Amino acid sequence: MSHLSSTLHIPDTALVPKHVAIIMDGNGRWATSRYLPRVAGHAKGVETVRKVVKECISRGVGYLTLFAFSSENWRRPADEVSVLMRLFATALEREVDKMHANGIRLRVVGDLSRFDARLLELIAHAEKKTESNSRLTLTICANYGGRWDLMQATNRMVSEHPGQENYAESDLAPYLAMAYAPEPDLFIRTGGEQRISNFLLWQLAYTELYFTDIFWPDFDAAALDEAIASYQQRERRFGRTSAQLVEVRKAS
Ligand code: IPE
Ligand code: IPE
Ligand code: MG
Repeated sequence: MSHLSSTLHIPDTALVPKHVAIIMDGNGRWATSRYLPRVAGHAKGVETVRKVVKECISRGVGYLTLFAFSSENWRRPADEVSVLMRLFATALEREVDKMHANGIRLRVVGDLSRFDARLLELIAHAEKKTESNSRLTLTICANYGGRWDLMQATNRMVSEHPGQENYAESDLAPYLAMAYAPEPDLFIRTGGEQRISNFLLWQLAYTELYFTDIFWPDFDAAALDEAIASYQQRERRFGRTSAQLVEVRKAS
């Protein structure tokens, strides 16, 4: 399924955002501030994921995309990387049945080639088991990078259209890793940093950005409501003027 670029279709911000994308940041600082090892923050962060998924379902969010591990996170100490991989595997093992029972479709996107065979098996099993669910599509971005995504999409597009000289945006879009989802309406980054860190570079072109100082392990229902309330105050113009929006609304 492909979606109209949000630069053509103007979503109604009075509604709950259809697609929320989150950079879950601040696990390490949350732990350090409590004199705990960084990995304790990651473990706590998994609990937050569980809660936020539930809260998104109850608010009617259709797509939730979580940045779990970036293509740059391999630069971290090996033991932290291996704990993150283990937490991911354990969460898949423990949560897939519950996700399925709650109508969640799970997708994992990123360069999966660096993951070990067992993790790949768990991912394949979870995606297969939940593939016909449609209440919430939960995407975990793992070993994901926006630049990686643009390059893999470009390479596939070119190899499938040999001889073509010029390509349009609409030629590339179907090859992006998240072509199955509309572009995010609301982007949230916890942990205080105000940067994109190589997340969904193409898709965030017109997404409303929201930054909060709250560390990911402390992000809760009230914090999610605050982010959604901020989104609902925004006027999404996509290059147009305010006055034009009224006309566009009438026509759509
Ligand atoms: C986010 O928390 C989790 C991952 C990047 C895997 P961090 O681990 O980046 O936490 P801080 O930013 O160091 O506090
Ligand atoms: C971004 O967080 C990636 C994830 C949350 C998975 P980082 O903590 O790795 O980002 P930087 O390095 O501070 O930009
Ligand atoms: Mg960080």
